[in-house]
Amino acid sequence: MNTTTVFAKTASPGTRPDTISQTDFLAIAEFVRARSGIVLGLDKAYLVESRLEQIVRNRRFGGFADLTARLRSHPNEALANDIVEAMTTNETLFFRDTKPFDHLRRHLPVMHAAYPATQPLRIWSAAASSGQECYSIAITVLEASLGTRPVQILGTDISAEQIARAQQGLYSEFEVQRGLSTPSLIKYFRKADGGWRITDPVRKLVEFRTWNLMDDLRPLGTFDLVFCRNVLIYFDLPTKRRVLGAIWERMAPGGLLYLGGAETTFGVTDKFVPCAGSHQVYAAVPA
Ligand SMILES: C[S@@+](CC[C@H](N)C(=O)[O-])C[C@H]1O[C@@H](n2cnc3c(N)ncnc32)[C@H](O)[C@@H]1O
Repeated sequence: MNTTTVFAKTASPGTRPDTISQTDFLAIAEFVRARSGIVLGLDKAYLVESRLEQIVRNRRFGGFADLTARLRSHPNEALANDIVEAMTTNETLFFRDTKPFDHLRRHLPVMHAAYPATQPLRIWSAAASSGQECYSIAITVLEASLGTRPVQILGTDISAEQIARAQQGLYSEFEVQRGLSTPSLIKYFRKADGGWRITDPVRKLVEFRTWNLMDDLRPLGTFDLVFCRNVLIYFDLPTKRRVLGAIWERMAPGGLLYLGGAETTFGVTDKFVPCAGSHQVYAAVPA
């Protein structure tokens, strides 16, 4: 692409905060990649400008050159988190893509029948965003008639802001209209504070934590089912391989992995194999 049309020619401290030089873009992109795995190609210069402009202004940096100088010298944790957070894409909806949840609906009774009665079922949503995926899993669990079996659903995301939203379980009229059926809305949500709040039986099944997939995943424990959906698309191949390897290590025997519609383990790792007839669902290969 013709980068001269995208980047400012200079990066002097007087540069308007809403223009970024190629040098500064590359420094920010590398910073974001190293901390989160998120890859920002040259075509994302506009995105970086628009999303970081507020940070530049609020923190009174002279411009993007000033911001990158700080990143090189002594970035504090709060600034680093704000930058990464601003560069995440948190698009999500209830029962996204439908099919993984149809599979889950069929698979839960199979696991229930196979597992010892008191063994907890552990499910992890590894890029939970604002929580719709976790609550969709929880609703599916509640409707699966698993008797007294304990079920623990963990939702994690690199974005503390999104995790705080997920914990609140409060969604706008627009958000509940994306993916939720009317009977589910009436059954599992209550009108509150201008939106809809998830009810306790669903909320109680889910725990949320801020967690970066680049970090050690071992403290999270092991899981029977892992939803790692629509996040690998932001990573490069070595990062996808590393993350899938680390997830594989967290899988209980017989564990399944659910990926997003544009994601695959094919050509990335041989630690997972596709489940026959179930697009987006992969079985962890035994150790
Ligand atoms: C597009 S959303 C996907 C949400 C949900 N899984 C879905 O499929 O609807 C991607 C999420 O991945 C999170 N994310 C990006 N990099 C991450 C990382 N290194 N560790 C954990 N979460 C990350 C973002 O904050 C964002 O909320």
